[in-house]
Amino acid sequence: MEKIQPLIWDGEALLLLDQRALPGEVIYVRCDSVEEVGEAIRDMVVRGAPAIGVTAAFGMVLAARHIARTLTGDESLLARLGKAGATLKSIRPTAVNLSWGVEQMLDRAKTLSGMTPGEGLEQLEKVARKIFAEDIAVNKRIGEYGASLLPARCSILTHCNAGALATAGYGTALGVIRSAFAAGKDIQVFADETRPFLQGSRLTAWELQQEGIPVTLIVDSAAGYFISTGQIDCVIVGADRIAANGDVANKIGTYMLAVLAGRHNIPFYVAAPLSTFDLSLAAGEQIEVENRCETEITHLKKVAITAPGIRAQNPSFDITPAGLITAIVTENGIISQPDQHNIARYFKNAR
Ligand code: MRU
Repeated sequence: MEKIQPLIWDGEALLLLDQRALPGEVIYVRCDSVEEVGEAIRDMVVRGAPAIGVTAAFGMVLAARHIARTLTGDESLLARLGKAGATLKSIRPTAVNLSWGVEQMLDRAKTLSGMTPGEGLEQLEKVARKIFAEDIAVNKRIGEYGASLLPARCSILTHCNAGALATAGYGTALGVIRSAFAAGKDIQVFADETRPFLQGSRLTAWELQQEGIPVTLIVDSAAGYFISTGQIDCVIVGADRIAANGDVANKIGTYMLAVLAGRHNIPFYVAAPLSTFDLSLAAGEQIEVENRCETEITHLKKVAITAPGIRAQNPSFDITPAGLITAIVTENGIISQPDQHNIARYFKNAR
């Protein structure tokens, strides 16, 4: 069992580690319905692309159970499940894993005709459990491939939280760091605090501390200082959606780090599962960027830190062009110099 468990399925309900309360309190929010799952995703109880994908899969199990109990003669379970899935998908538009999780469940639901309701529900639960278990296995493989890129002694800058908390329980970018550390490499991590939600200071620093991995917290605007003074050997981040040409959507501020890494000639790595690729989009400019509430910026723990009436803009993600990315690390291997050609070739070989 993983040390940090962001989500627990107990067979009846989904328990989500409340990431808003970390690192102060370790408490779980219980979700008994797909509506409660949706609320938890919206309110950032659970966040991080793979984690919300897995959460959505269990949300669909809860939806299917409710629908099966309340279905009237002239309704179709599949149509109602489709509606529940569409609502879930719309809650956070940037991370493709959310849609991916929902679609996996709908695909299975389409094959259930001929089964009793009980058998069908069992099959759906099985798929969600598999998505959960595979996410951890996939992260470990990403970790191993990524660790092979790192020298024996390495100082790494990471942004946001792409760790156990952002997945089913191991992490993508932090999975690489975990694997390298476990392999005996001398790893030092610099974690950006990641305004405004503070995934870096509240979550990444906490996670690494739990693992005994040396971590130093810096403010987002200090990244240029640390990189330009030679204190960082490489940058590793996760991703929310990767277009067919290798452009990457990730937490706001990622693009600045990629520009800095390019300027100072250090590698910029993205660690992400294949489920984060969206080959239906040719380029990053087609990725929808979620805009979140102004009060995430104007307030800290519900206390205003700006004068009344100050307007803010809060795009939650930005797009890093593929040309600034040294390599994308996936569970099937490493895509160096990602571009349309290399990614297409990679997926062709993977099939
Ligand atoms: O808004 P968040 O916290 O959901 O954003 C998360 C990120 O941007 C992560 O870097 C990304 O989802 C990858 S997580 C493995």
